[in-house]
Amino acid sequence: MTVQKEDKGVARSVLDVLVFLLTAVYLILKAIYESCLPSTHLPKKDIRGQIALVTGGGGGLGRLVALRLAKLGATIVLWDINEKGVEETIELVKGIGGKAYGFKCDIADTKSVYSVAKQTQKEVGDVTILINNAGVVSGQLLLDTPDHLIRRTFDVNIIAHFWTVKAFLPKMIEKGQGHIVTVASMAGYVGISKLVDYCASKFAAVGFDEALRVELEQQGIKDVKTTVVSPYFIQQTGMFENVRSRFFPTLNSNQVADRIVEALVREEYVVMLPTIFKYLTVLKAMVPWSAMALFIANFIPDPSPHNQGNPVVQVKNADEKIKPVKNNSNSILSSSVTQLNKRLVLTGKDL
Ligand SMILES: NC(=O)c1ccc[n+]([C@@H]2O[C@H](COP(=O)([O-])OP(=O)(O)OC[C@H]3O[C@@H](n4cnc5c(N)ncnc54)[C@H](O)[C@@H]3O)[C@@H](O)[C@H]2O)c1
Repeated sequence: MTVQKEDKGVARSVLDVLVFLLTAVYLILKAIYESCLPSTHLPKKDIRGQIALVTGGGGGLGRLVALRLAKLGATIVLWDINEKGVEETIELVKGIGGKAYGFKCDIADTKSVYSVAKQTQKEVGDVTILINNAGVVSGQLLLDTPDHLIRRTFDVNIIAHFWTVKAFLPKMIEKGQGHIVTVASMAGYVGISKLVDYCASKFAAVGFDEALRVELEQQGIKDVKTTVVSPYFIQQTGMFENVRSRFFPTLNSNQVADRIVEALVREEYVVMLPTIFKYLTVLKAMVPWSAMALFIANFIPDPSPHNQGNPVVQVKNADEKIKPVKNNSNSILSSSVTQLNKRLVLTGKDL
């Protein structure tokens, strides 16, 4: 009797393993096939009327993403410590006929996140798209980095994600509609000298997205999606301006913003920019460390501030694909976009 039970148990385990292997092979082949197709083969969701919150929306990538989301009809909420930058982004969003609200919020401060989240909900409504974009970098050798900057890097680049997600996820689950986008970095997959705190925080951000997705899926929450986007160095934002990259060209900030929004509407899970890095991360796990070290030393530029120019973001060409749309007071709004587009806007790099 006991032997029969054991046999059944073994047969069940063998069956489970077989089903798992066959499903895994099917999913891997499907993923390989789909990775060869452009992201445009995926269906596109409509985000009109949704409320999209962009942290760090007062400048850099956050501003460009906000403009694109507004163009798709979302109501924009901007959180930043840079009030002037937020005002400018609001003007730009209004200039293309969009709706935007701005709040000063230091996302490194838990209390501030929770209280501004309440204010946002009261004054604007339920946030169903959350773009965790704000980020900071210290850019020094670990032993030269003051403790408070290391702490700040973690507070802004990853710990804040816990507070913003805890603030907005419950409503997303309740409404059966939500999307959380983590703007990480390729520094979340590869260690880089002078970016020890930054890389560690971005590795954490990549892990945060994956674990959150797994947790939601295992709870049967299908309508709240998560996406992590990891770009290489970007031109013309306030962070790694003028980093000299020898082999891989630095990315155009507009194209990165386009890709973030594309990943959101196509509900992609993991995006690396440029895409080739997806294959390099697979190689990383396979090649010996000595080969990897050689690659990092030769291909990854020095990201420290002395190697950079002024921290400015140029909106001039930034929204080249964004055309001011007609609305009631179109002429005034359009001209405000043009005026803003003509000047350089300081970002909140002066932390
Ligand atoms: N620039 C790059 O090369 C690059 C590459 C890969 C990933 N990223 C990531 O992209 C994201 C956007 O970077 P960016 O290049 O636009 O940088 P940026 O410095 O131009 O903009 C960051 C924004 O975050 C805001 N911010 C900083 N600390 C904040 C805080 N405590 N509370 C609220 N807002 C705060 C700043 O005021 C600023 O508006 C970051 O997460 C960054 O790590 C950037």
